[in-house]
Amino acid sequence: MNDILQAIASRRATKHFDSNHQITDADLTAILEATRHAPTAFNIQNYRFLVVRDAEQRRRIRAAAWDQPQVEECSALIVMCADIKAWEKDPARYWKDAPESVREGYVGMIHSYYEGREQVQRDEGFRSCGLAAYALMMAASAYGLQTCPMDGFDFDRVGEIINLPADHEIVMFVALGREASSPRPRGGLLPLDALVQYDSFS
Ligand SMILES: Cc1cc2nc3c(=O)[nH]c(=O)nc-3n(C[C@H](O)[C@H](O)[C@H](O)COP(=O)(O)O)c2cc1C
Repeated sequence: MNDILQAIASRRATKHFDSNHQITDADLTAILEATRHAPTAFNIQNYRFLVVRDAEQRRRIRAAAWDQPQVEECSALIVMCADIKAWEKDPARYWKDAPESVREGYVGMIHSYYEGREQVQRDEGFRSCGLAAYALMMAASAYGLQTCPMDGFDFDRVGEIINLPADHEIVMFVALGREASSPRPRGGLLPLDALVQYDSFS
């Protein structure tokens, strides 16, 4: 099987990480570097990655996350956040390498698409972070590491702990590290025909 298909099929949500494992700065940076290639609408790159390494911060976040051990046992806890107002923050920088006419075209489109559409701005941030979270999980597997996507926490409380800016939203965590034990067998996958329809819903 090709490496990408193998990584997709073998990925599992890790419940216990080896708390003695330390990720190197070089590996963490390389994983985040891969993550930032995840696509975003109009290339607005509205995901923000808060890496929590500090032990005391982790302890506080764990207390706001139903005491889930992954939060403290992982090698790096990534809080995937959306900058809901990224679209209006100097959007020309998202197209800085494009010809001027292309850049100006996109700046105009970005403005007219997001202006006054609060729900769209928020939805877009969640789409971007979801794609980035999965890119992060796949990049981690390329470095021989495991992950756990997480939303089992008090979003407001975690926002306070990390000093979340008012125009950002927390989307989810990705805990990253080396698994301490093999995962249980999968809970069960729905048959493909329960998920896939063709052309329209019947
Ligand atoms: C958005 C999201 C939130 C999740 N939150 C948690 C969580 O808080 N704690 C946890 O242990 N697992 C969490 N999971 C992991 C799921 O339970 C797991 O992905 C699912 O049971 C399928 O198992 P698998 O990933 O091993 O295939 C979450 C997964 C997703 C996608």
